[in-house]
Amino acid sequence: MAKTYCFLGCFLGLVAGRKFWEVPDPMDQIPSSAGLKGEDQCLYQLHHLQDGARITALLPPSIEGNWISTGCEVRPGPEFLTRSYTFYPNRLFKALQFYYGDHDCRKPSYSLVIKGKVRLRQASWITRGATEADYSLHKVGVIFYSQEAMSHIAAQMNRTCAGFVSSGRPWAPGRVYELLSAKADRDCTAAIGFTMHELSLVRAEKQYNAPHVGALVEKLFLGDIHTKKSERVHYRPTGYQTPLQSAMHHIQPCQVCLLILRSNEHHPPVLPHVPHTQVQLSGKWVSSQCEVRPAVLFLTRSLTFHGENHTWEGLYYHYADPLCKQPTFTLYASGHYTKGVHSEHVRGGTELIFKVSHARVRPLNQSILRMLNNAHHGSCGMSGKWRIREEQDITDTGGCNALGIRLPHIEYELFKTEQDSSGRSLVYMGERPTDGSSPDTPDKRPTSYQPPLLKCAEHHLPSPRQGMAIPLSLSPLLQPCLTLIIGLYVCQAAIT
Ligand SMILES: *[C@@H]1O[C@H](CO)[C@@H](O)[C@H](O)[C@H]1NC(C)=O
Ligand SMILES: *[C@@H]1O[C@H](CO)[C@@H](O)[C@H](O)[C@H]1NC(C)=O
Ligand SMILES: *[C@@H]1O[C@H](CO)[C@@H](O)[C@H](O)[C@H]1NC(C)=O
Repeated sequence: MAKTYCFLGCFLGLVAGRKFWEVPDPMDQIPSSAGLKGEDQCLYQLHHLQDGARITALLPPSIEGNWISTGCEVRPGPEFLTRSYTFYPNRLFKALQFYYGDHDCRKPSYSLVIKGKVRLRQASWITRGATEADYSLHKVGVIFYSQEAMSHIAAQMNRTCAGFVSSGRPWAPGRVYELLSAKADRDCTAAIGFTMHELSLVRAEKQYNAPHVGALVEKLFLGDIHTKKSERVHYRPTGYQTPLQSAMHHIQPCQVCLLILRSNEHHPPVLPHVPHTQVQLSGKWVSSQCEVRPAVLFLTRSLTFHGENHTWEGLYYHYADPLCKQPTFTLYASGHYTKGVHSEHVRGGTELIFKVSHARVRPLNQSILRMLNNAHHGSCGMSGKWRIREEQDITDTGGCNALGIRLPHIEYELFKTEQDSSGRSLVYMGERPTDGSSPDTPDKRPTSYQPPLLKCAEHHLPSPRQGMAIPLSLSPLLQPCLTLIIGLYVCQAAIT
């Protein structure tokens, strides 16, 4: 109820859905200083994003087979990991989670080998497009690759699951230890905060692409991980993590996929070294997919960063459905951001602060319209004066209570930039707190990321290749741009 619209995350969020073209001239809400050429590219991307027909969701999902990570994943904490999950026809599964000591997933520290049974149930009432599932765990084993990781976990075990460490063989790297055994009625997984609740929310998508990216890509979305470690064990997912991809049908090229596919608990994948690229933040970024936030929000985002004066603008398209076809409202937001500094806590990330000072809302759905018109006087634009497709400024009313937007607003943000395997620039903004609050204090700054936005227009660079491959540490001239990246998230705003 008391959810807050996440500005950066949220604000930076929305872009388009299938009905995009039927929405009155959304593009003129994104003031653009990018050249026409760049603009074409953005339109192209938006167009393809909306083309929901190329994405099919399977209901009920078919999850049989092997599913793998396509890169180094970051979970709240942060934890760096890769995953390889296999689901068998008899409902049994074997899930491998490889954990690392570094943000490039090059230094394996330990792995979990998780075996159990999963049963798909009914369509989720809460998260449209998802299927609920039950699971039971038969065995969870841990295997260490470094003395340091082993001592750390052994100490945790010794405190919370007394007797576990001392019983049986002495601990040594390279051996598998059973943390959980259903047969022996033993469960020490709580000691490391382990849970497999991600298996309780499932969605599978088939995506048809141009042949060079892999004509068919199959994705498996599993439930999200609570951003607060202490809540993890109790939390039932309402959103998703980064999807796994089918070992048979994944994006091309994908060197990481092959590495993960060939690994096992005795040979953890060591991801290839990626030169850290400094991507120019100035310019325009758009969602690469219809995004789902916990607390059930579907949206697309388009963000523009102006490096020269440290201002940003975001256009967020909200939808009622998981393919982003039924628009509910758009939100335009703008403000300033600070220069970025390297994160000490989340290696590989950059921290900055976003300020949201202006916002406008355009209702596109009758229930949203009713909600806005019924809002208390002075709490959300001109109450009673809202009309479908007519935009109102909500800056003067200090935001919009009904939508969880308060202005002015500050967000402590985390982001990183990357290039994908086909050389496109990506920006990841921080994941919003799962409890629906806003990262409005430094201690609430995210430690993991949302789905990336794709760069669709450069600001100044004559060619998109330039400025991408310069190592961060070598590019003082580009620093001001870095700071621009910040606020791109989505939030779980509060339509409810
Ligand atoms: C576990 O705890 C006991 C008693 O506190 C201690 O003697 C032992 O050294 C600990 N073992 C490990 C592996 O930390
Ligand atoms: C910042 O720069 C952009 C691009 O040059 C411009 O469109 C925008 O109006 C400027 N904003 C402010 C507040 O000066
Ligand atoms: C309007 O939005 C609500 C939820 O936000 C949804 O249930 C309803 O189907 C939407 N109506 C249309 C016509 O899209």
